[in-house]
Amino acid sequence: MSYFTHLECSRCAQTYDLNVPQNLCTECGKPLFPRYALAKIAQDWDKSSLSDREASMWRYAELLPVIDPANIVSLNETMTPLLPTQQLAASLGIEALWVKDESRLPTGSFKARGLAMAVSKAKELGLTKLAIPSAGNAATALSSYAAQAGMEAHIFMPQDAPPFNRNTCQLAGANVTLIDGLITDAGKIVAERKEEEGWFDVSTLKEPYRVEGKKTMGLEIAEQFNWDLPDVILYPTGGGTGIVGMWKVFQELETIGWIDAKRPRMISVQSVGCAPIVKAWQEGATEAEPWTNAQTTAAGLRVPQAVGDFLILDAIYQSGGAAIAVTDDEIQEAMATLATHEGVLACPEGAATVAGLCKLVATGEIQPENRVVLFNTGGYQA
Ligand SMILES: Cc1ncc(COP(=O)(O)O)c(C=O)c1O
Ligand SMILES: [Zn+2]
Repeated sequence: MSYFTHLECSRCAQTYDLNVPQNLCTECGKPLFPRYALAKIAQDWDKSSLSDREASMWRYAELLPVIDPANIVSLNETMTPLLPTQQLAASLGIEALWVKDESRLPTGSFKARGLAMAVSKAKELGLTKLAIPSAGNAATALSSYAAQAGMEAHIFMPQDAPPFNRNTCQLAGANVTLIDGLITDAGKIVAERKEEEGWFDVSTLKEPYRVEGKKTMGLEIAEQFNWDLPDVILYPTGGGTGIVGMWKVFQELETIGWIDAKRPRMISVQSVGCAPIVKAWQEGATEAEPWTNAQTTAAGLRVPQAVGDFLILDAIYQSGGAAIAVTDDEIQEAMATLATHEGVLACPEGAATVAGLCKLVATGEIQPENRVVLFNTGGYQA
């Protein structure tokens, strides 16, 4: 049984039919959110039922948008571990610090969550040709899930995207176009060509389901913390879909009565070479200006403009969080710190959260008694 009732604009609340493929709100151009019959879920669903379910993101079916489970396209999106750190926590003087290790997911990164959901919904809606602008890992994830579903994947990514991403997309038989530009330029090409080519645009937050896949990170954290959320979450932010998804599902969980009103401080970590959200937060703005000359070795953070900027900022402001930028050198150092202290082989984006944490501990913004979760969003790639 599905509790998914409709789609709703995250800005103007205009509603949309869930049986039709949708992109952005046609009234105001902002992202659409799936909405659920939460009162009914609260009546029907008990936490205890989770103990019998598979350890994957699909265990939260009541709060997910797939209507017929036969449409799920899966490579086994396993629940990811919350690794307790000891030496790292001790070196920072924090009592309780965990790494949520997303590198275990299919295709090597957390992008699997969003694309597993988007491709499953594409199947449910009868779509067969999907196009994506990507900084890298989302392209790898789409290529694999589209291959599994027997769909076409049309990939547009920067020519200097990580070789792992370029190679894996080709290996999975996707149509890959490397462009002289960034993810935002790739997005423009998809937007220009999609109608003529018959492609469905699965740009993050420009279709309503990747965010629902990403929100399962928040569901897992809530469950892993026994429905008492941690004090601080640090998340490496590009398009910000993870922050937006976690923030959305915390509200859903409160509405169904599984958690209380307490929220983690949501901390967005970016690179000094591309920090539109940090700049907007420092200025107290509710939207971010596009970043010019974006440059960083953390490819996933090279996102000069995010369609969900106002949603990311909203989560930061409402949670009393922060946004912080770190340098590429600090990211490199943090990769070594994670490996030597904890044996965790992180991607640069994940390591960026360690660098951000060091700074926030030094300034006293994160205190020793805070329970802190860092997101390692993907595995180390040579
Ligand atoms: C490894 C990694 N971490 C973080 C990000 C940023 O994620 P989001 O777009 O959810 O902000 C990306 C995006 O490409 C990524 O590949
Ligand atoms: Zn709208």
